[in-house]
Amino acid sequence: MHDAYAPIDRTPPVLPDKRILAIAGSLRRSSWNLLLLEAATACTPPGMTVSVYRDLGAVPLFNEDLEQEAGGAPDAVKRLRREVSAADGVLFATPEYNQSLPGVLKNAIDWVSRGAPEDVLAGKPVAIMGATSGRWGTRLAQHALRQTLHATECMIMPAPALYVSSAAQLFDSSGRLSDVATGNALQAVLASLGQWIDLVRSP
Ligand SMILES: Cc1cc2nc3c(=O)[nH]c(=O)nc-3n(C[C@H](O)[C@H](O)[C@H](O)COP(=O)(O)O)c2cc1C
Repeated sequence: MHDAYAPIDRTPPVLPDKRILAIAGSLRRSSWNLLLLEAATACTPPGMTVSVYRDLGAVPLFNEDLEQEAGGAPDAVKRLRREVSAADGVLFATPEYNQSLPGVLKNAIDWVSRGAPEDVLAGKPVAIMGATSGRWGTRLAQHALRQTLHATECMIMPAPALYVSSAAQLFDSSGRLSDVATGNALQAVLASLGQWIDLVRSP
């Protein structure tokens, strides 16, 4: 008689949801980029949650003097850093201002990119998209954002791209994304971000 082998447990492990921090590069109350991120919270794939960061307006203009005076960073920056650090991935939605990313977003990234006490963007999986009321879909802003993020050593998802143009035609009067094609493209971005996080984390 052999001792019985312990049966192998083939139940797949229950993994915690991937937490995505969503940051819009606009402080405007009815921002299309904010609405796009809100749409993302409603169409996440299983195993993912998206939470929208709503306090970008509290981040002061970057000034190295403030780093000294505030013991590393002002509170609003510490809060943002904590959120980025705790997230499995970051999803940016950027408007285009003068063929680049808005200063408010660049400013926030500049603050967060400062290493001490922890370099929270380095190695972080990140995805980029953008919405505009105009015709060109934020291509140049996304290009500029990609270049800035490249310097932070985060892991930028290469594809798919989502360039949302003529945004006013894609949302209904209550601010809900009503365009099916854009909704499908948004879901594809989220699904790919989930896979990108797995890929970046894989040994
Ligand atoms: C200062 C400024 C510059 C802009 N420059 C561009 C531009 O270069 N290209 C473009 O497509 N839209 C441009 N726009 C339009 C914005 O992209 C558009 O208003 C967008 O909806 C703003 O994003 P939000 O709705 O998330 O606030 C500009 C808007 C402002 C306020």
